[in-house]
Formats: sequence, C-alpha cells, structure tokens
Amino acid sequence: MATYEDKPTLTEFGAFSKLYAKVNGKLAGKVNANSKVRMPLAITIRDIAKKAGVSVTTVSRVLNNKPDVSKKTREKVLQVIADMGYSPNAMARGLIWRKTLTIGLVIPDIGNPFFAEVAKGVEHRARERGYSVIFCTTDSEPQREQEAIELLCSKQVDGIIVSLSVESRSVLERLEKQRFPVVQIDRKVPGSNYSAIAVDNVASAYTATKYLIRQGHSRIAHITGDMNTKTAQDRLLGYKEALSDWGLRLEHQLIVHGDFSKGSGILCMEELLSRTPLPSAVFVGNDLMALGAMEAIGKHGLRVPDDVALVGYDNIDLAASLQLTTIMQPKFEMGQLAATTLITSIEKGEPAVGDIILDTMLIERKSSAATVL
Ligand code: HPA
Repeated sequence: MATYEDKPTLTEFGAFSKLYAKVNGKLAGKVNANSKVRMPLAITIRDIAKKAGVSVTTVSRVLNNKPDVSKKTREKVLQVIADMGYSPNAMARGLIWRKTLTIGLVIPDIGNPFFAEVAKGVEHRARERGYSVIFCTTDSEPQREQEAIELLCSKQVDGIIVSLSVESRSVLERLEKQRFPVVQIDRKVPGSNYSAIAVDNVASAYTATKYLIRQGHSRIAHITGDMNTKTAQDRLLGYKEALSDWGLRLEHQLIVHGDFSKGSGILCMEELLSRTPLPSAVFVGNDLMALGAMEAIGKHGLRVPDDVALVGYDNIDLAASLQLTTIMQPKFEMGQLAATTLITSIEKGEPAVGDIILDTMLIERKSSAATVL
C-alpha cells in the first residue's frame, strides 16, 4: 500500500533548496550553541522520555495518538507530561516528527465570495482537527499557482488543498510522485489522480440552461468563466448539451468569455448587448459575473428579467439580495469536506481515493421569473 513518507524534497523546487538547507541547519539545534545569552531551559521530548523511562519514539507515539502503546505506558507518559508542564513547540515538533499540523490552501481569489466561503469551511474543519491553515491566492495564474505550492512546501505544511487552472497538471504530478498529500477543491485538473471535492458542473449548467429553455427562452447566451479552468469548461459543455438536446441552434456569437470577475461580467454583457437581435436570457458562469451583467443591463436602460433574464452560479450571499436566480453550491461544506479528506489522508499516511461530488440546486428568484412565451 502506498504511504506518504516524506515532505517533498525541496531540491526539486530549485530556489527553495538553499533556504531549506539553511533553515534546517539552524533549526537542527545550532542556533544557540555558542550563544552567550542564557535561554530558559525548555523541556524537551527527551526529558519526558528519560523521566518516564521510555524511548523518545514512544513519547512521540503517545503525543500523536498512535496505536501500539500499552495503556499503562500511555498513562505514565501523559502523567509525566502533565507533571513537567510540557507543551510541544510547533517548530521543534515539526522537526522531530516531520509534522507541522499545518495545511496549505491555494485558491484563485479570496475576494470572490464563493472561495471566501470555501476557505471558511476549510479553516473551520482544520481548527476542529487541531491544524492551522496558510492561505495563498493566485488569480488563476499558473506561475503564481506553482509559486504558492513551492512556498507552502518551504513552510513544511503537512498537505495542501488546491483549486488550480488546468495548466498546473505538471506541478501536481511532481507532488504525486513524492506521495505528498493533496486534495483538489472545486476545480479539478484533468489527468491528475488527486481526489477532488467538487460538484457536477456539466449537469448543473445543463439544469440552469434547461430551466431557461422551459421558461420559454430560445435565444440564450452564455458568459463563460476563465476557460483555463475545468469549472468554466464544464459549465460551457452543460450549456451546449442542453441547447442541443432541445434542438436549439448553437450561436457562437452568443458565447462570450469572461474570467469569473465582476468586471469581466460587465464587459461580456456589454458585448452581448451589441448583438442583434438581443439574447433574451443569459446563463452566466458565476454569480460575480452575473452581478456585473446586471449592472451593464441597467446602464443600458434595460431591465432584468423583462428585457434580459439572468441565471448565475454559486448562490453567494449577494445573489439573494439582488434576486438573482442561481445554482446553489454547498461552499462551506465543500471546504469542510476537503479539509477532512486531506487531514485523514495525512494522518493515515495514505492518499485519499476517488472524488466526492456534492449536490447542487437551482434557486429561482426574480432575475428569471418572467415568461416570454
Ligand atoms: N472560479 C470562480 N468562481 C467560481 C468557481 C471558479 O472556479 N467555481 C465556482 N465559482
């Protein structure tokens, strides 16, 4: 059975190897060797072992809640720990056990309420399990995705939750070769074997488009997200499949490419408003872009839904305030599940197996309520 043995060797990550060697050299106990300043004597795991009359490994096993320690020994060690007031120092603990009880989270944009909610879920579950989280954002730029992962490895995190663009496959492959614990969230990189916690974006986009067709719309446009991501690609696929199943012609001029930001929603909607005849409805690749689209429609003196109906994706809090029909995703739960999956994999020393696909739901609000039959 495959097990995770080591953190990635940072030599693989070029620039970081130097830093690691230096930091590791210092932390390996040389810092205060010749220092004239007297440091308070910290109680170490060795002191505990000596006092309890057991090996350092046994103390470590007790602290890590590992099996193979008798009840009697466990109780004895815990008693000595309590008597001596020992509290493990995170850095030292990391060096001894090769565990820092820290995980990384790499997401495109913390300003996007979808990812903010996902991050909350990750942090909440991590805290429950005794882990801290280091957050990195990337704006979906492959270079920054790689740098974020390198940075987290240099911080010796125990595992990483990632939401990456499709171009970052090779970075994941390198981590996989080293059996480093990783879980993907929301965006799955095609070809990567790491487990993903996500929704079925093709099916949900199909539902959104089918709903608009059933509302009587036949000229339905789509504003895509960043096409460098699997989520945007799948949502476009679902839109196309629904049109095709209902015998509606695919008009390429009704598909415009955004990047998931509100600003791109404004620009894409303006482009669609220059088409004749106007689309009567738009399925927008996420709620942030849908908010931008709403703004653009208003600026042109048109009304939602009477002139153009809108359906978004995510159900961020603002969607309810602005009466936006949307696809609800369980964002917080997605984050929690990703953290559970990663931490379980770290603690078991085994990779997580398979993807977890969560349910979505169409929430109907006024942005699409008018019928145009
Ligand atoms: N990017 C931006 N917004 C999103 C995404 C995504 O991948 N998925 C759901 N909302």
